[in-house]
Amino acid sequence: MVLLISRTSDSPAMDQLRLTTRSCHFRWTPKRPANTIWCDRTNWREARTAEIDVAEPLTGKEALAVDAPPTLIQAVPKRRAEFFAGRLCAMLAIEELCGIAHAIPVQPDRSPCWPEGLLGSITHTDHRALAVAASRAFYQLLGVDLEPVMPNDQAEALSQLIVTPVEKLFRPLAMSSATFVTLAFAAKEALYKAIYPITRRVIEFHDVKLFGLHNDAIDLELDPLARSHALPTNRFSVKYQLADGHCLCLLAVEQP
Ligand SMILES: CC(C)(COP(=O)(O)OP(=O)(O)OC[C@H]1O[C@@H](n2cnc3c(N)ncnc32)[C@H](O)[C@@H]1OP(=O)(O)O)[C@@H](O)C(=O)NCCC(=O)NCCS
Repeated sequence: MVLLISRTSDSPAMDQLRLTTRSCHFRWTPKRPANTIWCDRTNWREARTAEIDVAEPLTGKEALAVDAPPTLIQAVPKRRAEFFAGRLCAMLAIEELCGIAHAIPVQPDRSPCWPEGLLGSITHTDHRALAVAASRAFYQLLGVDLEPVMPNDQAEALSQLIVTPVEKLFRPLAMSSATFVTLAFAAKEALYKAIYPITRRVIEFHDVKLFGLHNDAIDLELDPLARSHALPTNRFSVKYQLADGHCLCLLAVEQP
């Protein structure tokens, strides 16, 4: 398998925050099954396309290896590619924070296991991956989700599952229904990823209520039944960006 990775610029909306993000575009060809990919940090830094091939392991201090966990060994190439791209972004984000590109194991519930003292979140679509990471000294919750804006028929079919009629009233007139449904979906997923490491509970879309929509943020509240005393708050402001047919949502709750 060959995975082609080209670095993209990091999200400007996140620049002012004390966290690091790494993102990439990727595509894959199912030539050979790969259990490890190799990234050349020089290629990455210089924003050149990096061709990553297991058949040619890299050596030297610029080489970064990402291993597939046992659960991924049987996975189809597409799943491996998104996993590798997400992990690569996460390891590079961590490396920027603490100088070491720690591996990020997969927990039995599939959530990532972040190194001591750090927290983060990973997302991927068919061809893009993004990870955020930060120090626990500054942040208590981090969750990110990237989604391509759904086609109208898909948004219509999923809309009932994701938002209630009352939540739909928050859609600005200038925003299409499909964009609104995608945004609500991504914001709720980002919230779920951020709180899961604390609550360890799966929640449903209707356990989270949308109660405000602004130019760059969406207000969400956890339903009383989904709340946890371990969380710092039950009301969250999820930042969002709509660009290039995609919706990017980030929930970052700072330490008090
Ligand atoms: C885990 C889940 C949130 C992934 O969302 P997705 O939009 O399908 O996929 P994304 O690419 O954005 O994110 C996948 C990454 O999230 C991370 N992730 C998986 N489970 C996670 C969890 N419980 N907590 C935090 N992060 C998690 C992983 O890093 C994963 O990538 P990887 O498997 O390659 O390591 C989703 O599939 C899920 O299990 N949802 C159940 C709960 C839910 O969605 N409720 C409604 C929202 S309130």
